[in-house]
Amino acid sequence: MWRLVQSTGTLELNSPYFYLLWATEFGDTSLIAEEDGQAVGLVVGFHPPGQPDAAFVWQVGVLPSHRGRGLGLRMLQAWKSLPANAGCRWVTATVADDNHASQALFHSLARVGGVNCETQPHFTADQFPVDHPAEPLLRVGPFSREKADPV
Ligand SMILES: CC(C)(COP(=O)(O)OP(=O)(O)OC[C@H]1O[C@@H](n2cnc3c(N)ncnc32)[C@H](O)[C@@H]1OP(=O)(O)O)[C@@H](O)C(=O)NCCC(=O)NCCS
Repeated sequence: MWRLVQSTGTLELNSPYFYLLWATEFGDTSLIAEEDGQAVGLVVGFHPPGQPDAAFVWQVGVLPSHRGRGLGLRMLQAWKSLPANAGCRWVTATVADDNHASQALFHSLARVGGVNCETQPHFTADQFPVDHPAEPLLRVGPFSREKADPV
């Protein structure tokens, strides 16, 4: 996961320990896409405490060589159908205003699911201790609850 996030070139890289801890404790709500045994994409997600009907996408990334072929959308759809996420009615994420690819990805998820994608203010630039754009919250839904598929 660490190498993959590093290879995306744009995602904020957390420590190797972070990803080890994350895979151990939040593996049920995360996903890695592989092609010929090589990791080519990932979704790092969790359930926000206090919002049992929401699944939050912390990081979603696809290797530059594999972008623009629908993999990001397929990953999000598969991630949303994971047993741990199937009961969720909302997919949420924060996406910077200048991240057009990510915005397009979540709008595609909404479009193919026949639901809305709403944006609301969330983390503002002044809340970051370093130079960082605002991260508005995207809410995609409401989805119907899915029957969890065994994976
Ligand atoms: C965001 C990202 C995961 C999208 O993955 P992808 O596999 O290229 O996405 P898809 O091919 O499934 O495309 C999904 C939609 O986004 C659109 N899209 C993809 N890249 C785009 C770009 N650079 N600019 C505008 N729209 C874009 C596609 O046209 C498609 O829209 P459509 O359904 O209307 O045709 C990928 O660009 C990436 O890894 N970016 C770097 C990491 C990042 O910024 N992650 C998000 C922040 S957590």
